[in-house]
Amino acid sequence: MSWTATIITLFPEMFPGPLGQSLAGRALESGTWNCDVRDLRAFGLGRHNAVDDTPFGGGAGMVMRADVVDTALESVSRQDGAPCVYLTPRGRPLAQADIRRYAAGPGVTLLCGRYEGVDERVLEARAIEQVSIGDYVLSGGETAALVLLDACVRLLPGVMGSAESGVEESFSDGLLEYPHYTRPAEWQGRSVPDVLLSGNHAAIARWRREQSERVTRERRPDLWAAHLSHSSRPSVQEGQSL
Ligand code: 6GU
Repeated sequence: MSWTATIITLFPEMFPGPLGQSLAGRALESGTWNCDVRDLRAFGLGRHNAVDDTPFGGGAGMVMRADVVDTALESVSRQDGAPCVYLTPRGRPLAQADIRRYAAGPGVTLLCGRYEGVDERVLEARAIEQVSIGDYVLSGGETAALVLLDACVRLLPGVMGSAESGVEESFSDGLLEYPHYTRPAEWQGRSVPDVLLSGNHAAIARWRREQSERVTRERRPDLWAAHLSHSSRPSVQEGQSL
């Protein structure tokens, strides 16, 4: 039984899309995961297979009908404990901890919204998780679903080679990654930091840690604050000042 992504969408041709390539694509071909795409239109009502209607209370746009979405979700074989996730800019921010939880289970059912969104009642009735991938507006949940699945699939057993394995790189310690360099050692007048060419592995580790801390502090004060309040280990800078 492979890890299964069940996707409910009005645009089934968007899947697996980019996840048919590279690491995720090979894992799909080898049966490590399975992409089960359901066309929401197939559950639509009436002669035109309507899936949406105008919002009560007025206003712009259309709302996806609770009954149609419910029938589509009902058609999904109730996998043992696979969470159902609705992708929406109104959701809580998706984080690596959610990805780890999804990847560790039997799979996920993803509901991709279009238009103004989905009737709130079906979200309540089915206790659907609502997640957003960031503070910007996409034209639909499909690209967000692809992002969520990419992040899950790379964590499935056997997907990443030993080279990249262990790899939650950024975020595992709550810090962003240090900068990387390769040949040539000099490029357009720019050289590689000397320490990386020194062969001194302890000094390299210390430099990388300092760089991770600096980059996190500068770019992500939110992550830096969380790191400081959770980690028992002093930062390199704090350690040096002691
Ligand atoms: Cl999950 N969906 C849409 N439509 N827009 C978004 C989003 C999701 N996350 C950020 N923006």
